[in-house]
Amino acid sequence: MAAPLLTVVLAAGQGTRMQSDTPKVLHKIAGRSMLGHVFDVVRALAPERLALVVGPDMEDVAAEGRAAAPTTETFIQAERRGTADAVLAAAAALTGHKGDVLVLYGDTPLLTAATLERMRAVLDEGAGVAVLGFEAADPTGYGRLLTNAGGELIAIREQADASEAERQQRLCNAGVMAFRVQDLTGLLRRISGDNAKGELYLTDAIELARRDGYRARVVVCSEEEVLGVNDRTQLAAAEAIWQRRRRHEVMLAGVTLVAPETVWLSYDTVIGRDVLIEPNVVIGPGVVIEDGVTVHANCYMAGHDGKRRDTVFVRKGAVVGPYARFRPGADIGPDVHIGNFVEVKNTTIEAGAKANHFTYMGDARVGAGANIGAGTIFCNYDGFEKHRTDVGAGVFIGSNSALVAPVKLGDGAYVAAGSIITKDVPADALALARAPQEVREGWAAKYRARRARRK
Ligand code: UD1
Ligand code: CA
Repeated sequence: MAAPLLTVVLAAGQGTRMQSDTPKVLHKIAGRSMLGHVFDVVRALAPERLALVVGPDMEDVAAEGRAAAPTTETFIQAERRGTADAVLAAAAALTGHKGDVLVLYGDTPLLTAATLERMRAVLDEGAGVAVLGFEAADPTGYGRLLTNAGGELIAIREQADASEAERQQRLCNAGVMAFRVQDLTGLLRRISGDNAKGELYLTDAIELARRDGYRARVVVCSEEEVLGVNDRTQLAAAEAIWQRRRRHEVMLAGVTLVAPETVWLSYDTVIGRDVLIEPNVVIGPGVVIEDGVTVHANCYMAGHDGKRRDTVFVRKGAVVGPYARFRPGADIGPDVHIGNFVEVKNTTIEAGAKANHFTYMGDARVGAGANIGAGTIFCNYDGFEKHRTDVGAGVFIGSNSALVAPVKLGDGAYVAAGSIITKDVPADALALARAPQEVREGWAAKYRARRARRK
């Protein structure tokens, strides 16, 4: 029977090695903050309470926690006195809680819920403490997990405090701990800070818990899963691992990635079956790609651009690219064809419409079966405001036309190539809005003759 769960996420570090004005845990992996990733994993465990420990002046981190889980209780650790002190910053939540406590760091974005479930299972089997461990390729800097012959964890020794023999141990502390003890705050308050760094180490809780008669056990996961991000090279490494995992999942779910390592997905990307994605495609946050879509090479699509957030849809059977760009609010309808160098923003393109070459469509509706000729521009902005363009079903727009919004083209209307449309066009009408052509017979021959005489 699972006990009630309190999770404590530690994020009081600014992360100086990031060389950034942004706190470390707000840096993003696949379009979502590291803290957001950690919270997503934590929320999968359905904790009764969720505590977040931040440093002073980290209101933006607290806000990100609340955005990820509205019930988050934020605590401020006034001074960085060590990981045990950080957990104690959330003492008010700890004392009011009867059940399991799971402590994790805000900068390990690749953890999985399955691993955390394994830790809780160890508590269910009778351990008082479960510690997540991994075999480090290079254990330098990590706390070493010291176990006895029976495989029980007896202590965690930090690098600076470890003997030469202890440093040989490659099984290391990942930083995630789960507790099922009577009085965790009491236990943590007994931690002394008598160590090389003079910090209050959470890891010292192991020996204290054992003294109180609890057993401690290790749950092992891959090193990859507990990659901690301290600088931007590690941020890129975490991104690469995240992308590799997600590509693998989408391929198993029926998506063809011709060159998987060149396709970039986001934390919230939704992709259907029998989707084909060619090389060099970037899918930012807020994109839904339905079944049977083909995305040709070198496309960029994102439903969030920093200012706007509005999902991009690419609906069933649409064929897009190469070199297409979809911005927030682009809704590419079923069987629509979008070709090269076409940009779509806040525009619904209805079934079967086509815009195959060099076009900008913004703040518009394009009706079913419409054909938007090469080089058509929807002039939606007058320098102050955005205006709408409405293109009816079956409309044909000749190449190199400009539609100056606000403007409406009725169903079945024709626009002659090269037109600048500033007035509404009724259904089934032809609009011709270009300078009439003048032809001067023989002019070119006479001109050349004149120039030749001058030489
Ligand atoms: C810690 C572990 C170590 C483990 C390693 C894994 C301890 C004593 N050591 O070492 O066994 O192998 O992580 O990466 O726990 N934090 C606070 N307030 C503090 C101190 C830390 O919030 O006062 C937060 C940091 O923001 C960070 C996390 O706790 O998210 C870990 O702290 P850090 O100082 O990086 O610990 P390590 O020395 O890496
Ligand atoms: Ca660390």
